[in-house]
Amino acid sequence: MSRKNENQCDLIMFGALGDLAQRKLFPALYQLDAANLLAPKTRILALARQDYDTDSAREKLKQKLEEHIKAAELDDSVMSRFLSRIDYQQLDFSATNDYVSLREWRKGGGGALIVYMATPPSIYGMIARNLRETECIDTATRVVVEKPIGHDLDSSYEINDQLAEVFNENQLFRIDHYLGKETVQNLIALRFANNLFATQWNQNHISHVEITVAESVGIEGRWGYFDKAGQMRDMIQNHLLQLLCLIAMDPPSDLSADSIRDEKVKVLKALRPITPDLVETHLVRGQYTAGTANGRPVPGYLEEEDAVRGSTTETFVALKAEISNWRWSGVPFYIRTGKRMPEKLSQIIIHFKPAPHYIFDPDQKHLANNKLIIRLQPDEGMSLQILTKDQGLHKGMRLRQGPLELTFSETFNQERIPDAYERLLWEAMKGNQYLFVRRDEVEYAWKWVDQVISNWEEHASPPKRYAAGTWGPVASIALITRDGRSWYEDA
Ligand code: BG6
Repeated sequence: MSRKNENQCDLIMFGALGDLAQRKLFPALYQLDAANLLAPKTRILALARQDYDTDSAREKLKQKLEEHIKAAELDDSVMSRFLSRIDYQQLDFSATNDYVSLREWRKGGGGALIVYMATPPSIYGMIARNLRETECIDTATRVVVEKPIGHDLDSSYEINDQLAEVFNENQLFRIDHYLGKETVQNLIALRFANNLFATQWNQNHISHVEITVAESVGIEGRWGYFDKAGQMRDMIQNHLLQLLCLIAMDPPSDLSADSIRDEKVKVLKALRPITPDLVETHLVRGQYTAGTANGRPVPGYLEEEDAVRGSTTETFVALKAEISNWRWSGVPFYIRTGKRMPEKLSQIIIHFKPAPHYIFDPDQKHLANNKLIIRLQPDEGMSLQILTKDQGLHKGMRLRQGPLELTFSETFNQERIPDAYERLLWEAMKGNQYLFVRRDEVEYAWKWVDQVISNWEEHASPPKRYAAGTWGPVASIALITRDGRSWYEDA
């Protein structure tokens, strides 16, 4: 049997006309089709409440695909092949009887069934029960669900319990789309395929780590949702903690999903709580005020569409995380993430300790630590800052800091870097869970985040202001300079 046929599946997409599905999921599926990664008989059933028939739904999807895929990547024959895989059905997600027709549709297909719930998490349980009651699913069905899995530990239990009533953990594919990003995956290759780094990856050789995930966009019409979450729940609980886990985890014994996830969980369990006495020094919350983005004036968070005056929700968080184990004792992880920052930039900087004995120009001593810069987006790549001798007779032994550079788009012949959702959908089709988040990861992450939030709430200091288009409140600079360090951009 060819590899393509092995991956044959039927995909049922709940919420198929929603923003996520239109902006990310269908374009990703189109790209998989264009790359010949969808088995010939793979079919997609798009479900939503709107009254369309299959032809009009296909027409609408086509328009959206043309909007969200670069013109150079559109191809008429791929488009017609892809659209022909799609059937549409209007469905009231709460009406059990409506699901019977899904079972009928499924009879016409084969391979694994993947159910993608691109819906609010509050209805995951209802959809799961309806699928079970109408016998649409079996123990081989895979279910893909999106964040947020709850807004705290208790609500995440509720959602996970509802899913667990119907599905086993090995059927559940919880998405954190950061895990599908090319460079995020490369963290695993970098760390565990290069002994050079593996031997240096601990508190003997690393002084501190920085993780920045900055966005230039603001709230993008999602004020109501975002205000209930804030940057801590929206970004740190999932994406930032996942990045931290991948940097900090011990080597897994193999690449299987559980080996990797077991190691990530150990990191989450070892995160030191940010207790009330640490809130002042380890945590900064910010909220943006009016400023500029891409050279044009933009409103502050409290002036955005639908904003409610007086909200104290944070749009920026900087924090100092510490991991209480042998590998990382004494190595702070400085993390910051915010909306309306000067640019979209996600990067990790590993700062290595200087050599034990320094013999060069004393004025240059501050240069004497190597840095590994891992750029997640944009311009994916890695750069290792090393010291060499400056060129020229008159320079003597003056040092110069320069990069050993690996820019993926240049090194790999400009090959297109797939979007995170392409990889995640592809892995779900193959039944591989290693890029998906296990229940205990979600829960340990919430446990840590919950205590941070409850301690800052007790502290009751409102978020610090920062102007849109800046790197966050001044206090976030103090958070790191207090330890005699600076954020990489400021250095
Ligand atoms: C989402 C958050 O999970 O990630 C958004 O809900 C955020 O608020 C987005 O904008 C960032 O993702 P990316 O891939 O653009 O960095």
